[in-house]
Amino acid sequence: MNWIQNCWQVGAIAREIDAGLLGRTIMDERIVFFRDFDGQPVALEDRCPHRIYPLSRGRYADGVIECGYHGLRFDSRGRCVGIPGQTSIPERARVRAYPVVERYGWIWVWIGDAKRADPALVPAGYHWVDEPGWRAVHGYTHFAANYQLLVDNLLDLSHETFVHPDLIGNRTIAENPVSAEIVDDRYVHAYRSMPNIIPAPFFRDVNAIPGRIDRYHATFYTPPSYIVVESRAVPAGSTDPKLATERRNLFPLSPESATSTHMFWCVVRNNRLDDRELDGFIFEKGALTQEQDRAVLEEQQRLIGDDPGVRFPVAIRVDAGPTLGRRLHERVLRAGRGETLRSEVTA
Ligand code: FES
Ligand SMILES: [Fe+2]
Repeated sequence: MNWIQNCWQVGAIAREIDAGLLGRTIMDERIVFFRDFDGQPVALEDRCPHRIYPLSRGRYADGVIECGYHGLRFDSRGRCVGIPGQTSIPERARVRAYPVVERYGWIWVWIGDAKRADPALVPAGYHWVDEPGWRAVHGYTHFAANYQLLVDNLLDLSHETFVHPDLIGNRTIAENPVSAEIVDDRYVHAYRSMPNIIPAPFFRDVNAIPGRIDRYHATFYTPPSYIVVESRAVPAGSTDPKLATERRNLFPLSPESATSTHMFWCVVRNNRLDDRELDGFIFEKGALTQEQDRAVLEEQQRLIGDDPGVRFPVAIRVDAGPTLGRRLHERVLRAGRGETLRSEVTA
């Protein structure tokens, strides 16, 4: 698979590595994540150089991994610091250490050229997680589907009508036209206004706006796989911004392999900030929503097989976003300009 590797990818939700070792494959690279003695995140090649065994299956103590097969010990820089029964350590007893950054509740890893791994390139569009006056709920769903199918899905939210009718969709979404454009040759913006509609079930429960709403959503996509979906609802006809309920749905998608993807997702809201029950409700409904998408996309991937050159024979109006998304992705891949990638989302 031809990856865009010179960019930050989420490897884990930060709390996932608080308790020990986490093995996860990103862009075909097997990586073990953990925290060093000082609590800083670490990402090492998950492959013991002795007899080729996953270090993530080993034991962890005080920032050091002990291989679960013959006990070689590795520190947070990937250096072997102990071998049972001998004092000399072979030169090649080391594993690759990847640049890593903890930000916005996630552990970001850089798979490409380590010299280009600038923490300033972590997508700034995910700042919503740390924004005062907003509250974030993080989740994770694994998809047996190529990441570009997930990008297509999030750039065309008309599918909410058909895939999520009991959660975030209803008839009115697909009936309202979408607009899409590539902005500054850097990201795709696809958006849809839905004036004076009956709220979908999730909106009714979370927004607590009685009656009809004016709804708006917009997807921002930066290649290879950074997505932010803005969502806004106001009482129908209102122009008062204080009555708006806003959410930012953050999706740093991390390719696992050519046919599988880690969907990290985070719902950030600006209402009912202290409502812990609502946190649980959003997590539960968010997970259900991703499961509904997963069922569709995994079926789609099974039909496509592992054909990297798949072409979709029919294009309709709602494809405006996905079509531009694939076009921009292709340009970025060809230009190999991954090092400049950052999310431009500000709204
Ligand atoms: S395979 Fe890791 S110590 Fe032997
Ligand atoms: Fe969906």
